[in-house]
Amino acid sequence: MKPDTDNHIKTSPFGTLKASEHHLRVLENAVQSARNGIVITDPLLPDNPIIFSNIAFSELTGYELSEIIGKNCRFLQGMDSDQAELDVLRSAIKEEKPCIVTLRNYKKDGTLFWNELSVAPVMNEDGICVNFIGVQNDITARKEAERQVSEFHSMVSHELRTPLTSIKASLGLVEDGDAGHIPAPAKRLIQIATQNAQRLLKLVDDILDLKRMESGKLQLNFTIVNPDELVEDAVNSLNELAKANGVSFEKEIATTRAFCADPERVTQVLFNLIGNAIKFSPSNGKITIRVEDEGKQIRFSVKDEGPGIAQDQQGKLFHKFSQVDSSDTRPQPGSGLGLSISKKILDLHGGEIGVVSRHGEGALFWFALPVVPKVNG
Ligand SMILES: Cc1cc2nc3c(=O)[nH]c(=O)nc-3n(C[C@H](O)[C@H](O)[C@H](O)COP(=O)(O)O)c2cc1C
Repeated sequence: MKPDTDNHIKTSPFGTLKASEHHLRVLENAVQSARNGIVITDPLLPDNPIIFSNIAFSELTGYELSEIIGKNCRFLQGMDSDQAELDVLRSAIKEEKPCIVTLRNYKKDGTLFWNELSVAPVMNEDGICVNFIGVQNDITARKEAERQVSEFHSMVSHELRTPLTSIKASLGLVEDGDAGHIPAPAKRLIQIATQNAQRLLKLVDDILDLKRMESGKLQLNFTIVNPDELVEDAVNSLNELAKANGVSFEKEIATTRAFCADPERVTQVLFNLIGNAIKFSPSNGKITIRVEDEGKQIRFSVKDEGPGIAQDQQGKLFHKFSQVDSSDTRPQPGSGLGLSISKKILDLHGGEIGVVSRHGEGALFWFALPVVPKVNG
């Protein structure tokens, strides 16, 4: 059938739109059925008032339609208009750009709700902003859950850390004979207890580190560092563990070029990678640690002769609490946090981290740090 050009207008998400009431009804029904609040404002009128609000917006806020239309949306802020996110929103509206912010808003009965608000300009054919559309998502339940998880984390971490530190110190004194002579079999048991206290302490510290990084509270202390010294520090603190597992180190330090980084944090990454390599190495296995100068970056790598990691497992390696499962891999102790912490440390330095491995052929973990840091956070 030949299209009726008078009744057809431009292509839209619906296909070729017929400018009929039917389509308007479809749109209105869809918007009214949405679970999110949706408002449309008119910036060409004084103070950008709301000219349309869907049912969900009324339900979310507790206001009647007659109390909403004609008002600027700021009425949801009550007296709480000093919010940092409002600056972001104000600039976006001024520049006619889309943005997403999270605001504290208040219902008609005064109840606080967290509003994840998405605002976008609506342009006409001439590129003039004729409306704004705002979509309100009540994320109060999610916020509360996040708060509880974070409170629980810090409570558990701190409540555990102090007694564990004291247990470990006391065990150390007993092991050293400071509390009197102990027979060899008892000494062995004390050593096992000390190692396990150490592992728990490392887990607690990892959780604290991760929390600090996630909340942006971890500050890096940049200084000039030498790559060979960083490798030396990490290797020295893992020598005992390597020996106990019958694993040897080979260092290939192709550069000693100094660069700018946080030495404590870079050593922590090396410690994590070398520690993992020891855990997964066969006895008599060799771990090769390389440092190379790549011009703008210094690249470190740690290669082991362990079981390797299948391609389909590699994507999740740098996620929290992930440990690769493989039928012929010994279950290994560890929090599963080391790699995700390492990735966050690299992100903070503006660096990169990755793995090259095939199942059955060992694994090579690498990371590269910019000589001059591009600081992200
Ligand atoms: C389409 C649209 C929807 C908005 N929705 C909300 C909202 O749900 N809650 C809110 O507190 N502010 C909302 N605002 C922001 C306020 O209307 C206002 O722009 C903001 O408070 C900053 O301006 P002011 O400093 O003049 O108050 C929305 C703005 C627009 C354009």
